[in-house]
This record gives sequence, structure tokens and C-alpha cells, in this order.
Amino acid sequence: MNLNLTGQSIVVFGAAKGIGRAIADGFRSEGCTVHGFDRDDSEHSVTLGDVTSYDSVRAFVDTLDVVDHVVFSVGVGSGKFGFPFWNLEPSDWMRVIEVNLIGAVNVAHALAPRLIERGKGSFLFLVSVAGQVGSQTDPPYSASKAALINFTQCAAKDLGPHNIRVNALSPGMVKTELNRSIWAAGQSKLSEEQRITFDEWATEKSKKVSHLGRWQMPEEFAAMATFLASDHAKNITGQTLNIDGGQVMHS
Ligand SMILES: NC(=O)c1ccc[n+]([C@@H]2O[C@H](COP(=O)([O-])OP(=O)(O)OC[C@H]3O[C@@H](n4cnc5c(N)ncnc54)[C@H](O)[C@@H]3O)[C@@H](O)[C@H]2O)c1
Repeated sequence: MNLNLTGQSIVVFGAAKGIGRAIADGFRSEGCTVHGFDRDDSEHSVTLGDVTSYDSVRAFVDTLDVVDHVVFSVGVGSGKFGFPFWNLEPSDWMRVIEVNLIGAVNVAHALAPRLIERGKGSFLFLVSVAGQVGSQTDPPYSASKAALINFTQCAAKDLGPHNIRVNALSPGMVKTELNRSIWAAGQSKLSEEQRITFDEWATEKSKKVSHLGRWQMPEEFAAMATFLASDHAKNITGQTLNIDGGQVMHS
């Protein structure tokens, strides 16, 4: 399928690692120019910055010429095991909400006027199955993703009349650093004998939660992100698309 994205300009927040990095590479292989932004530039060429700072996001956006599509793949957890929820302190919530939700809001505010000016384009936010089912692993993470799913719908309604589409991609379990931190937080609660390796944990968990019984890989999100940016998806907006091996099914 020809996606006809050659020459388009894409901005990816969270482009240094994991899913964001794979999405950036996916757009590059479609012939797009990719502008990456991340707080960490150790693995890839990106502009350094923190999405929680509106000034930092705006300063980056001011350096860009044309913007066709925007991807927000930033996400963090509390780093603690939040089940039951009182394992966490209320103060553990703030940074997670700030990065996962306010970061995305900062990006939307900074870039919507640029896309409106051109009368076309799209936003894509990375959310999570955890935001749809009240996952008990990390309540502030789940709540931040539920809020971002809702904001995706609000933004899709506001931007639809400007010919700008807004969607969310929802992973289940993807082999990235973020999952490694969830495994580590869970292991810290166990005795020496109960502990298992990251691969053992992931294999066991993906068999349990996914009906296909396997991990999702970052490249699968690149395939969907490029499709959603293309004209083949011109009537898809306000949607949360699960790439999760069937972990979440709404009746
Ligand atoms: N990996 C999974 O299984 C999984 C599951 C569900 C949802 N998700 C979501 O998918 C997205 C990508 O996850 P991933 O697994 O690739 O994570 P990752 O940790 O591998 O990558 C996240 C990127 O965001 C960057 N980042 C974090 N905080 C930042 C900040 N304040 N400012 C700028 N950059 C910042 C990190 O440096 C990193 O490059 C996230 O939104 C995550 O919540 C992932």
C-alpha cells in the first residue's frame, strides 16, 4: 500500500527510545522528515527538552518550519507497585500526571495553531490499555491515560472542522524500557526465591493478559502510526486503537 507520505514533516515527542523511536524510524522510511524531541538524547538524534515545560515545547516548535503530523509517545510510570493504591503516596501521582497528561496538553496547545493555519494534519497520542480497564499496576499511570483518551476525543471534536484528525494508539505489552521498570517495581515486593527474570515475567504476563499470548513490538506501532497519518485514514478521528493482542475488547 502506498501511503503517499513522502516529503511530509512529522514531529515525534518521546523519539529517543521505544515506541516513539520506532515510529520516528517508520516515518523516515516513508520518506518523511522527522523532528524528534525527548528529555534523553543518548540513543538518537533529538532536540533535548521536557514536555512538562510549555516554554520548552514552544521553543522547539518555534524552530520548525512546516508541520504535517504530531505524535506524542512520551510516558512514565510512578516506578512503584501501586496495588493496592495505598502502596503509593498521593505525592507519587503528580509527576506521572504532569508528564503523561499535561505534557500531551502542552504539545496540543503548542501545535494546534500551526496545523489549523494549514487546514490539515493529525495528532496521535500514545495511551494504554491501562487507561481503559482500571489496571491495578500503577493507578496514576492508568488515570493519566484515561484522561488522555478523553482529551483525544475532545481535541478531535474541536479540530475536526479544521480538517485535523486526532487519534490515540493503545499498546498492551510492548518490549521496551517502560515495561522493564514495571517488572522491576513488582520484583522489589518479592522475596529472593519468588523473583523471576524480565523475560520470564514478560512471557508469563503476555500469555495471561493477551489472547494471542505474545508481546507487541514497537514496529507494529510505526505501521499503524504511518497508516493513520495517511489519507487512507482520512475518516478516522477521535478513536482509541488497541494494539494489544486482544487484551481489551469492548462489547
Ligand atoms: N511499553 C509498553 O508496554 C506500553 C504499554 C502501554 C502504553 N505504553 C505507552 O506508549 C508510549 C511509549 O512507551 P515506551 O514503552 O516506548 O516507553 P519508553 O520509556 O521506552 O520511551 C518513552 C520516551 O519518553 C521520553 N520521556 C519521558 N519523560 C519525558 C519528558 N518529561 N519529556 C520528554 N521526553 C520524555 C523518554 O526519555 C523515552 O525516550 C508511552 O506513552 C507509554 O505510556 C507503552
